[in-house]
Amino acid sequence: MSEPETDTDSTETVASPTPGSNLSAGNTASGSLIDEPIIKSRNVNVFYNETQALEDITMDIPEKQVTALIGPSGCGKSTFLRCINRMNDLIPAARIEGELLFSNKNVYDDDVDPVALRRKIGMVFQQPNPFPKSIYDNVAYGLNIQGYEGDIDQRVEEALKGAALWDEVKDQLDESGLELSGGQQQRLCIARAIAPDPEVILMDEPASALDPVATSQIEDLIADISEQYTVVIVTHNMQQAARISDKTAVFLTGGELVEFDDTQKIFENPDNQRVEDYITGKFG
Ligand SMILES: Nc1ncnc2c1ncn2[C@@H]1O[C@H](COP(=O)(O)OP(=O)(O)OP(=O)(O)O)[C@@H](O)[C@H]1O
Ligand SMILES: [Mg+2]
Repeated sequence: MSEPETDTDSTETVASPTPGSNLSAGNTASGSLIDEPIIKSRNVNVFYNETQALEDITMDIPEKQVTALIGPSGCGKSTFLRCINRMNDLIPAARIEGELLFSNKNVYDDDVDPVALRRKIGMVFQQPNPFPKSIYDNVAYGLNIQGYEGDIDQRVEEALKGAALWDEVKDQLDESGLELSGGQQQRLCIARAIAPDPEVILMDEPASALDPVATSQIEDLIADISEQYTVVIVTHNMQQAARISDKTAVFLTGGELVEFDDTQKIFENPDNQRVEDYITGKFG
């Protein structure tokens, strides 16, 4: 399967303004040159048949940071997340208008292969969903599909380490992924998502089915992986959004993006009264 021409090239162009410049995530605070958002939503409207689920969403998602999407049930958070890697393509009733740019390329352009796109923009769901395969095969899955010719053992180990699961499973890689605990299964799904070396990981309430210990492990993990990857996470848990995200987008009923700003600003001093009412628990 061919990679979309889009991402690496344009990322490189955008991210390398001067030869030899160090563009690691650690430099983000200082440099304006590296502030080019990795994902840009431009006037995105989504409909399910005739019903509009998202209304004119325009926002920029920064690279290698955690962006949280919050808001009451039904406001379109999952719909927006699925726009980013074209998972809505799988829902026949869904129709999108507007532009969704990944590294400045519209992911809805005809020449974008959605399967290749989803390797660059991986996804983790609410319910851990390992395949009924061994732990090893779960993690190697994406690599095998893409015909990866490097050292698969090494990539599997790196991904499991990256997902903070290696130490717990290194002696049982041949056992079924389904025999792990819920929290371990979710970390396995994160390992599966990071193994093909994506740029973005989308997470739709990844900890809401987990107990507090497993939830806190996932939160720690998100902080770790955001050094390397861009994370966009939907959560119903305001404290979680406040703890783990750099930016927060507040969607409200009607599929409207009401406020999007630094997380601290949203939680301490939002501009919008409806946002304040929502985060202080007056509704939703
Ligand atoms: N497959 C679908 N077919 C038809 N309508 C859908 C579909 N998925 C979502 N919708 C509708 O789109 C709107 C937004 O749904 P979405 O699942 O994106 O909301 P959400 O913010 O993720 O909600 P929750 O917090 O409950 O997960 C809702 O009105 C929902 O009923
Ligand atoms: Mg949802």
